[in-house]
Amino acid sequence: MIDDEADRRALPGNGLPAERVLAEVSALRGADRPTHGGRLFAYVYDPAVPGLDELAAAAYAGSAHVNGLDPTAFPSLLAMENALVGAAARLLGGGPGSAAPDVVGSVTSGGTESLILAVKAARDAHPEIAAPRIVVPASAHAAFAKAAHYLRVAVDTVPVSASTLRPAAADVAAAIGPETVLVACSAPSYAHGVIDPVAEIADAAAAAGVRCHVDACFGGWTLPYLRRLGADVPPFDFAVAGVTSISVDLHKYAYAPKGVSVLLHRDPALRAPQYFAYADWPGYTMVNPVIASTRSGGPIAAAYATLRHLGDDGYLRLAAATRDAVAGLADAVRAVDGLRLMAEPESTVVCFTATDPGLDLFVLVDELAARGWHTQPQLSYADLPPSVHLTVTAAVAPRVTEFGPDLADAVAATRAAGPVALPAELLALATTLTPDALTPELVAGLAAGLGLTGPTPADAAGSAGAAGPAGPDDDAGPVGAPPGRMAVVNTLLDAAPPALRERLLVEFVGLLQRPTW
Ligand SMILES: Cc1ncc(COP(=O)(O)O)c(C=O)c1O
Repeated sequence: MIDDEADRRALPGNGLPAERVLAEVSALRGADRPTHGGRLFAYVYDPAVPGLDELAAAAYAGSAHVNGLDPTAFPSLLAMENALVGAAARLLGGGPGSAAPDVVGSVTSGGTESLILAVKAARDAHPEIAAPRIVVPASAHAAFAKAAHYLRVAVDTVPVSASTLRPAAADVAAAIGPETVLVACSAPSYAHGVIDPVAEIADAAAAAGVRCHVDACFGGWTLPYLRRLGADVPPFDFAVAGVTSISVDLHKYAYAPKGVSVLLHRDPALRAPQYFAYADWPGYTMVNPVIASTRSGGPIAAAYATLRHLGDDGYLRLAAATRDAVAGLADAVRAVDGLRLMAEPESTVVCFTATDPGLDLFVLVDELAARGWHTQPQLSYADLPPSVHLTVTAAVAPRVTEFGPDLADAVAATRAAGPVALPAELLALATTLTPDALTPELVAGLAAGLGLTGPTPADAAGSAGAAGPAGPDDDAGPVGAPPGRMAVVNTLLDAAPPALRERLLVEFVGLLQRPTW
């Protein structure tokens, strides 16, 4: 256990024995949400396959110090990367004998990096376009906005229908202009798990001579298996002629440990502008296919071991278990008066909203958490209501029958508690404050007042707190301790426009990220 202040330091005066250090890490991990057990519906992907964690960890450890910086120095890593790219390409309609025989790819650190690189490759293929733009459905992952921000590319957002949660291909086509370098779509979207009309969107992009990226980061590893199991999955991969690149995350439904995604391009020429090379300095010539230069072999070896161990038959089995879990959870939602599915599940997401104003979804999320179910609240956006998101993995299957009664119970408790009523001054803050007017002190006071953080240095100086609803709470936990109930915070964020939500959370996370001395 961590028992005194000095013991919190990452660099103690005297090195500590290995067992003690491991005990500390495991004590810290005790505060985390459970990564196993099938009750956490976001962040983690658990197949519940005995021995898989140990296998992946052993493979990870064996390659953790291998450096992907130079594939000629570490051919093991190159071989495993090429094998992962080949497996992903085959699964997604590419490879020998397919309509896309020349598919190539790269292994990246995650979905966000894959999307940044897809945008970079598209942008740098057109150096003559001074102000490049991308066309992206509103339901596309936020990582496209991040890519655009990092790469100084403008985003043309196409709205999605409130009923289908998909963009209309005609709207996508209309948004393509002379400066468009990339059109994106999702298979499926993260928030609602629906598959965009990929074939129509890719057609529109091809007709305009523009690249089309399919973000299959989330579901690219399950959709092919769901199709083999009989699900009606529309064409979304390289079988669609206009699709030029696809991303698929191995650390999601391929069940590999974190840090692995694959970005595929239909041919090497499309991938070429993704690379960065630099020889104009006295050191080694740097040639990087991805954003990082030095890269650990750990995640790649762990992903390779995971794929080899689970195999095609294993993934088919896991997809069947996941499909059944999705069906069971969706039934549980349908059985509750006052809840409605945002969309009929067509992948591995169950997403629902409330149809009854007396049923506050943010309170429900807390009530579910109190019963050991960790779901993800989604704030209202444009004409879409707030919703509750469940990423369903194979580990959920054995738990499904427990969910229905707990959901019913949590709903009853939510109705009894009634909706969150924000104090008037907080509501005014959320609806009238401009992001620019938000100071770190204001957020510190707000966070402390909401019980999100303990007294901050600013509080101690007496310069914050007055703006918060109740002033700093001396009894609040240490900075970073997650509060038990988040409904008030989520209601506050929900009342704020997106730009203010962003600023509030940036400032808040900044408060959490303070060094320990
Ligand atoms: C559809 C989609 N794209 C991209 C990403 C980003 O992936 P990562 O969190 O690995 O960067 C996600 C993550 O959930 C996703 O669901």
